[in-house]
Amino acid sequence: MAFLLRRALFLLHLCLLTWSAWGKVELTVNDSLEVYLGDSAEIPCHYSFTNVNNEPSFVMIQWFVRAAGNSSRMRIFYSDGSQQIIDSNTDYSGRINVTSDQKETRLLIQNTQLSDEREFFCQVNGLAAGTAEGKTHLKVFAPPETSVIEGVLTGISVTNTVPSKVASCEARNGFPKPNITWHRNGMPLIPTPGRVNILILVTRESSGFYSVQSTLEYQVIKEDKDSFFSCEVSFSVPGAIRTMESHGVNVTVHYPTTMVELWKESPQGLVKEGDTVVLRCQGDGNPPPPFIFSKEQEPDVSLESSGDVLILSSVSRKDSGIYQCRPLDAVGHSEVKGEMQLNVHYLDPAVVVPKDSEVMLKGEDLVATCNALSSLTTSVVWHKDGEQVGQGNTFHLQDATYETSGEYICKVTVPSLPTLHTSGSVHIIVQGGPQLVGVEEEVQLEEVAGRMVNLSCEAKGHPTPSISWNIVGSQNWQEVASKENDHVTHSTVSVKVTSDVSALCNASNDMGAEVKAFRIKAIPRVTTTARFSPVEGSGVIIVVIILCLLLLAFLGSVFYFLHKKGKIPCGRSGKQEISKEKTTKDDIVVEMKTNTKNEEAVLLKAVNGEKKGPNDQ
Ligand SMILES: *[C@@H]1O[C@H](CO)[C@@H](O)[C@H](O)[C@H]1NC(C)=O
Ligand SMILES: *[C@@H]1O[C@H](CO)[C@@H](O)[C@H](O)[C@H]1NC(C)=O
Ligand SMILES: *[C@@H]1O[C@H](CO)[C@@H](O)[C@H](O)[C@H]1NC(C)=O
Ligand SMILES: *[C@@H]1O[C@H](CO)[C@@H](O)[C@H](O)[C@H]1NC(C)=O
Ligand SMILES: *[C@@H]1O[C@H](CO)[C@@H](O)[C@H](O)[C@H]1NC(C)=O
Ligand SMILES: *[C@@H]1O[C@H](CO)[C@@H](O)[C@H](O)[C@H]1NC(C)=O
Ligand SMILES: *[C@@H]1O[C@H](CO)[C@@H](O)[C@H](O)[C@H]1NC(C)=O
Repeated sequence: MAFLLRRALFLLHLCLLTWSAWGKVELTVNDSLEVYLGDSAEIPCHYSFTNVNNEPSFVMIQWFVRAAGNSSRMRIFYSDGSQQIIDSNTDYSGRINVTSDQKETRLLIQNTQLSDEREFFCQVNGLAAGTAEGKTHLKVFAPPETSVIEGVLTGISVTNTVPSKVASCEARNGFPKPNITWHRNGMPLIPTPGRVNILILVTRESSGFYSVQSTLEYQVIKEDKDSFFSCEVSFSVPGAIRTMESHGVNVTVHYPTTMVELWKESPQGLVKEGDTVVLRCQGDGNPPPPFIFSKEQEPDVSLESSGDVLILSSVSRKDSGIYQCRPLDAVGHSEVKGEMQLNVHYLDPAVVVPKDSEVMLKGEDLVATCNALSSLTTSVVWHKDGEQVGQGNTFHLQDATYETSGEYICKVTVPSLPTLHTSGSVHIIVQGGPQLVGVEEEVQLEEVAGRMVNLSCEAKGHPTPSISWNIVGSQNWQEVASKENDHVTHSTVSVKVTSDVSALCNASNDMGAEVKAFRIKAIPRVTTTARFSPVEGSGVIIVVIILCLLLLAFLGSVFYFLHKKGKIPCGRSGKQEISKEKTTKDDIVVEMKTNTKNEEAVLLKAVNGEKKGPNDQ
């Protein structure tokens, strides 16, 4: 049947060739038509007959399809003036429609499939009017699914001798086959032997799609630690080429250490004994290698460290020296190491000479020294009783007095490292015999009989003097106050003046004795309160006595004169007169006050009282 049909077609062909002399069909088709998978494809086929006078009465239109690489083709549609047939039992039965008019026939394929990527033939046969055929290649496109990139998670060493896998990328289920290209930092990577390998694996899925997997093998260099790699999938779509860029992946680049640095992380500034010192070692290798710490003096003894840190707790001067750190990943025998000098500063306890305490005699000189061994320049100041008394290593004590005694503290500081300081001290004792306070050796006093007098004695000396009293002329005395501190003794006795008193204050210690004498003259008792104190001196008393005698002489002469004239009787009235006179004298005295010093006025008053005393008796 098929054979017969083919024969018939062949004959028809021959006829067409014969008739071409009379007429011709002009047919226009597109070479190709591109559609997305699943879309409808409409293949137009435009035709016209050249011999317009002889419009054909019969036009036969047929559509054929031929798969790529298959020489035989298959009819899928037939129409003539009377009928339209969609051939049954073909891939296209039920999926195609053909619309035709006088000039055009259009093949409409619904729901295109990958298998529709074929050549479609449009054949127009107007018998004597001519016959023609056109071919359109239908191309179906399916973009691949979103590409997937996977970076290598393990580190890649620059020492690898061949390119190592860096990342792989996959574009799945695309049609036609998508391409994958690689980029490093956005720049395309071109396969280069020994440096860049790109391995491509193309899979034709059973569904007809292509899946492409590309693996990038790359010889990493140290700079690639910051590089990012990405893949680009390019695929065709109708009328264009599209690309899809994956996100970038980083690679961990491993490279050996070529340089190491060692430095002191803490403490800041100078290091002193007792500090905890942290040394840190850092190299340029990746991953950071473990380090070995050692001292230059003993390069083979590795110090206990943790990772890149060496902690030296409570350092001493013995820890001073050059420290080194070496990476464990250094290639070959290259001496990659970090080095630093550590200086541990110290300040030894202060040594004071003389030691502890020193006894010196009054008036002597002494040189004290204070030294503390240190790795840094020190500064020494001397303190006594909280006040600075000197500076420098030596301290001169000249012409010692009892005040010189005491504790001398030397404070040693290190100006460049203030937390470093020490101190020492010496106790200076100035020894000497008692020394009484006050100028006079003998004190003269007068006091109204019957009164108490306080006598005070203060003596300095070392050892602290003791004071004893020897009082002659009064049984009634007692020590009312006694004080001893440091090198001073103070004693006060209260003496009742009954008659003239002689008192000796004897201050003595091992080094000697000193005596101070008090002589108290007892003044006969008067009723008026004496306003002067016993210590006002004998000169005043003498003046008073002279004045009294003068007054007595004057009064005596007046009295005698009046008595001679017989104007005044003896007895009580006379006495009253005297009293009056006395009052007058009082007035005089008051007037005198303006001319004399206060002291004298007071004394004159006292004279009156004294005069009055015997009269009252
Ligand atoms: C060929 O394709 C183009 C664009 O798809 C279209 O405009 C044109 O009409 C087509 N030619 C024919 C003969 O159908
Ligand atoms: C060629 O196409 C014909 C008709 O569609 C089909 O029967 C045959 O199997 C095809 N041959 C090949 C090699 O694809
Ligand atoms: C073909 O066209 C007819 C009429 O327009 C329509 O009913 C039918 O569904 C179409 N068939 C296909 C496969 O498109
Ligand atoms: C890659 O590494 C660089 C530098 O370390 C970093 O800035 C960047 O965020 C990383 N990118 C990715 C995708 O991890
Ligand atoms: C894929 O690569 C091939 C070979 O370089 C090229 O001919 C083709 O056009 C490319 N396809 C796409 C979609 O980029
Ligand atoms: C003598 O000293 C004692 C004790 O200090 C004191 O209480 C007393 O008043 C003093 N007497 C005189 C007369 O100053
Ligand atoms: C003072 O006291 C000391 C010691 O008790 C004694 O040796 C000395 O003779 C005394 N001096 C006088 C003048 O009493």
